[in-house]
Amino acid sequence: MEWWKKTIVFELYPKSFKDTTGTGNGDIRGIIEKLDYLKSLGVGAIWLTPTYCSPMKDNGYDIADYCSVDPSFGTMEDMDELFAEAKKRDIRLVMDLVFNHTSDKHPWFEASSASRENDKADWYIWRDPRPDGSAPNNWRGIFGGSAWEWCEARGQYYLHTFLTEQPDLNWENPEVRRALYDAARFWLDKGAGGFRLDAITYIKKPAVFEDGEPDAGDGLTGIHNATANTAGILDFLHEMRDNIRAGRDIFMVGEANGVGPQDLHDWVGSHGVFDMVFEFSHIGLEFRDYENWCRPQAWGPKELKRVLVDSLMATKEEGWNPIFTENHDKPRTVNHYFPDGCDTNKSARVGLMWLMTMRGTPFLYQGQEIGMTNVAWDRIEDYDDVLSIGQYELSLKDGFTKEEAIKGVQRYSRDSARTPMQWDDSINAGFSTVKPWLPVNENYVDLNVAGEEKDPDSVLAYYRRLMHARQTHEVMITGDFTEVLAEHEQIFGYIREAGGKKAVILMNFTDKEAVFDAAILTGLVPVINSEAMGAVEDKSYEKHLIVADEMIRKGKMAPLSAIWYETEITE
Ligand code: GLC
Repeated sequence: MEWWKKTIVFELYPKSFKDTTGTGNGDIRGIIEKLDYLKSLGVGAIWLTPTYCSPMKDNGYDIADYCSVDPSFGTMEDMDELFAEAKKRDIRLVMDLVFNHTSDKHPWFEASSASRENDKADWYIWRDPRPDGSAPNNWRGIFGGSAWEWCEARGQYYLHTFLTEQPDLNWENPEVRRALYDAARFWLDKGAGGFRLDAITYIKKPAVFEDGEPDAGDGLTGIHNATANTAGILDFLHEMRDNIRAGRDIFMVGEANGVGPQDLHDWVGSHGVFDMVFEFSHIGLEFRDYENWCRPQAWGPKELKRVLVDSLMATKEEGWNPIFTENHDKPRTVNHYFPDGCDTNKSARVGLMWLMTMRGTPFLYQGQEIGMTNVAWDRIEDYDDVLSIGQYELSLKDGFTKEEAIKGVQRYSRDSARTPMQWDDSINAGFSTVKPWLPVNENYVDLNVAGEEKDPDSVLAYYRRLMHARQTHEVMITGDFTEVLAEHEQIFGYIREAGGKKAVILMNFTDKEAVFDAAILTGLVPVINSEAMGAVEDKSYEKHLIVADEMIRKGKMAPLSAIWYETEITE
């Protein structure tokens, strides 16, 4: 089995990880300093979100030079040292390739936008205005506002799926594609263990750019529905795979917004273009057709189970899934999938059981291992995230009040995942000696790595028990996946089975006790349970497990709890 199927990947957002230079921004030396900590989490690969030279309009997802390190993160020497130090610990670095667009400060765009006659003239998506001078069509960019920007020098508009400062590359031009593959090769030569392909479903544009039906008060229509996963994209992706992946001991994971379970056979597996794709059905459950943070679609554990299982079943015979419940663009797990106002110490544990026991490769996001939570700031000016600002404005245009609009931002802002890592209870959570670029979550005094390291009952200690169990119980890596209790309104349950071993996982996603038929546990023994041991005198984990097991065998699961059972199959 390939190494990347057996390991745990840690998604690291460098700007918020560890500042060693007193700038308020995390840096590469900060990552080097914490490699032993990452090793202690059982991590075999780090997905490093962009550290390349960038004007930082979208925190590095606006790249001005693919083969560089932004001075705010350090130097190429620091990066080389990071590769070397990580390798010593058997940790690979997975680079984030942003291939749909560049920064408007990338020399390619500076050349392309200077005139209609230059050797990069066709490297981006240029269109003439309509007869009245307006934008070629009514697409809204993902961060809000028109997806078109006027360029005086060319007398044309260019397309930007994301920010104005993130012009889309023209993948129809083979020179563009070759230049991108060269950038990937630069990092392969440094020893990259793989790549995460950002926003990759948007690289192919439709042949005709028509107006769409307006979907909000601004008269525009979301570009996502018009351009994501456009027919013909697979040809580009196969070519990319042949140029980057072919024959190498690396993995490629695509950010595949707009690809559903029904498409997965083309995207992963032996004929697919990626080793894994982030399929967003579960993480975007409330915005299936349309994203307005004031209009989330209602869902409950049953809907969540449905989309997770559909996605897994689509790769049952062929392919492999990343298991992920949060990332740098989404709310924290503890606040996202569980009842409002619930005890996040408990929900963190249920979320980690899910992450570490489904079929696939777990992608742990920084801070998830200690149960970091969302922030909820009161004013839009407090937010840094460009998507939060775009969504706030969209809500106002759509007739919502400021109070309603800020509630949506508090719930879904990308800043919640980006507040600095909580290392200890000293000033700025031990992240930096100066005011961090984004405020630290106020709960750092009680919720931080150092405190959890000392507490055998912490979320971190529980994560490590789970991680160790996963690494020593092969069934969790190689086992098949079969859902149980599919109709249950509260419990997500499944069986993992391989090599004569069987494991059963049960998780109560609600804050009410759940009743179920415990016959499915006959002949099984508990391996690990999520509940904190609390103020019991005897903090022996084994004793605690026995108490949880007794209750569950009566067919009762505590609110927000999870348990893993296992046995030999004897028949
Ligand atoms: C992806 C990234 C996100 C970024 C966007 C534009 O969705 O994960 O952070 O803003 O692409 O590059």
